[in-house]
Amino acid sequence: MRRLILAGLLTATVSVPADAQEGRVQAGKALWDSQMCSFCHGNYGEGGFGPELAHRASSLTLAQFTRAVRAPWGVMPQFGESQLSDQNLADMHAYLGSLPEPRRVGHWHWDLPPNDDAPVGQVLQVSFGCGQCHEPELGMPRRQLGAIARDTSFEYFADAVWNHNEKYPKGRMGSFSRERLPEVALREIYDFMMGLGLRVPMSGTIRPATGEHSYTVQIANTGTPGKGLDAEIVTVSIVVPDGFSVVSTEGEGYQGVRPAKAQMFYFDGSGRVREWEADAMIWKVPRIAAGGKQNFSFTLKGSGTPAADGFEGSMLWWEKPLTRMEYPDLEYRDVRIPEVGDANFILFRP
Ligand code: HEC
Ligand code: HEC
Repeated sequence: MRRLILAGLLTATVSVPADAQEGRVQAGKALWDSQMCSFCHGNYGEGGFGPELAHRASSLTLAQFTRAVRAPWGVMPQFGESQLSDQNLADMHAYLGSLPEPRRVGHWHWDLPPNDDAPVGQVLQVSFGCGQCHEPELGMPRRQLGAIARDTSFEYFADAVWNHNEKYPKGRMGSFSRERLPEVALREIYDFMMGLGLRVPMSGTIRPATGEHSYTVQIANTGTPGKGLDAEIVTVSIVVPDGFSVVSTEGEGYQGVRPAKAQMFYFDGSGRVREWEADAMIWKVPRIAAGGKQNFSFTLKGSGTPAADGFEGSMLWWEKPLTRMEYPDLEYRDVRIPEVGDANFILFRP
């Protein structure tokens, strides 16, 4: 009897921590996959811009691990408690420590520009780590700042970089240190960004409407009215799905169905571009101001329903504002941004 009780106790004391450990590893994996640490440390912690953490994290105490994130040693941005709690860090520590040693060390998510004559600001933005998340042309910050273009200044930008987690308490970018990323360097990065030009935060969606094979298209400039950039000379191009034809359309500026080319840029570091040639309904709109929306609709004819990817290749592009004004020959570039103006996909949301 006594022995049985003892055995029961033993399993209890051994199995509870094991479950807790497993729970931490699972939670840590979910965080690793959703946060952006992996852009610098690798999808599996195999290293890249920052050191490998897979397995090696187990040789750091939790206190050392936490310190590295809260008060980084070098160029790594600092993450605050509102972004990742101590518990979150304990989970990541457990997860990374549980991983096997990587077979080979990872590589940078985005390399330095390959050409010697790349703009200084471009070289610096990659070498300070921005490029690991923001790619060769800082495409995403340029869209965010384009939404409030009239308020943008170096001071505004520097505040968003050095005090990032005050501004974005739940953000996935950390605060860069003013000592490690000093003003001289940040100004070069800012000048590079402004020389490329801010971007208009335009987006487009296609949704099913009532009525068979009827759809609506909404194009939105999500910038702040009166502050953001306006998009000018806008072309809306909606691919006609295979096996379907257009019965009717609504919305100003309809040009008809035309053979259109679209490019799908896989921006996974491979630089792969998938090209389409498909018939598309085309609308042209002179301007969509910051905060503005424009709706279009169309009805198709055909049998069955268009495949889920039937609208793939639908695009929105606008000729102005121009981009890369100061760097027309930029070699290391974001292939999603066209030669003239700017573009985005129009996504189908069933
Ligand atoms: C911009 C790239 C970048 C991002 C993002 C980043 N790190 Fe780092 N990390 C580094 C670099 C570079 C180092 C090496 C020390 C330094 O330069 O600060 C480092 C060091 C570390 C270390 C110390 C490793 C050691 O051996 O002592 C830990 C732990 C760590 N990072 C965890 C994280 C976690 C967790 C996140 C996400 C919350 C993260 N890092 C996000 C670049 C990054
Ligand atoms: C770990 C990935 C990552 C790195 C590294 C990174 N960013 Fe960001 N950045 C983001 C994300 C994500 C956002 C959106 C806000 C958020 O979630 O924190 C953002 C937002 C921004 C914004 C918009 C701020 C605003 O107020 O609108 C600017 C500007 C910016 N980043 C510049 C930089 C610069 C400059 C660097 C390098 C010094 C850099 N970022 C490094 C991920 C990153």
